[in-house]
Amino acid sequence: MFITFEGGEGTGKSTQIKLLADRLIAQGRAVILTREPGGTKQAEALRSLLVSGDTDRWSAESEALLNYAARDSHLHQVIRPALTAGSTVLCDRFMDSTRAYQGYAGACTFHLLDELERSIVGDTRPTLTFVFDLDPVIGLARAKSRGDGAEDRFERKGLAFHQRLRNGFLEIAQADPQRCRVIDASQDMTAVAAAIWGHLNG
Ligand code: TMP
Repeated sequence: MFITFEGGEGTGKSTQIKLLADRLIAQGRAVILTREPGGTKQAEALRSLLVSGDTDRWSAESEALLNYAARDSHLHQVIRPALTAGSTVLCDRFMDSTRAYQGYAGACTFHLLDELERSIVGDTRPTLTFVFDLDPVIGLARAKSRGDGAEDRFERKGLAFHQRLRNGFLEIAQADPQRCRVIDASQDMTAVAAAIWGHLNG
C-alpha cells in the first residue's frame, strides 16, 4: 500500500505521518517512512537546491524538472522495491505537491506536469492520499515559529502563492475523490490522528 501526505506549509503532516508509522509498526506491519523531495542520496542533494536560496532562484518549470529528477531516483531505489517487497510506503509529499506548488501556485504548464507524471510515476500512483487543509495565514505562522530558516524558500513566496496552493490541493482532491481524503488540519493533533486512522480503517 502506497500512502501519501500532502498539503501546504505548517499543516502538521510530518508529525501525523510519524504517528501513523508508529501505529502501523505496532500492529506488526512493515513500514517505510520517506519524503520528497528526498529519500535517496541523489534526491536529497536536489532537495537542498530546491528548498534554500532566493525565491526566484528557479522557474516553476525548473522546479518541476528538479523535483521529478529526485522522484525518479526515489521511485527506482526506494518506493518500487519496498512496494514489491510488500511494505507499506508512507511518503511525506509526492506528485500532488508538484501539481499544487509548481502548477496551481507557480504557473508551470499542466501539459508538462501531465507528461512528467505519465512518464516517471506511471502506474506507481498512491493508493490513498491525505490532503491536509489549513488557512495559509495559520500554516505559515506555524511554519515560521518552528522553522530554523534553512529550508524556507517556498515559505517565503508570499501569501497569494500560498492561497493558490491551498486551492490547488483542494482541486486535486476534488478531481480524484477515490484516492484523496481532505483532512481539516485546524483540529488538534489527536483529532487529526483519529481522522486519519478512521479513513484508513473505514
Ligand atoms: P517539506 O519541507 O514539506 O518537506 O517540503 C519541502 C518543500 O518543497 C516544500 O516547501 C514544498 C516543496 N515541494 C515542491 O515545491 N514541489 C514538490 O514536488 C515537492 C515534493 C515539494
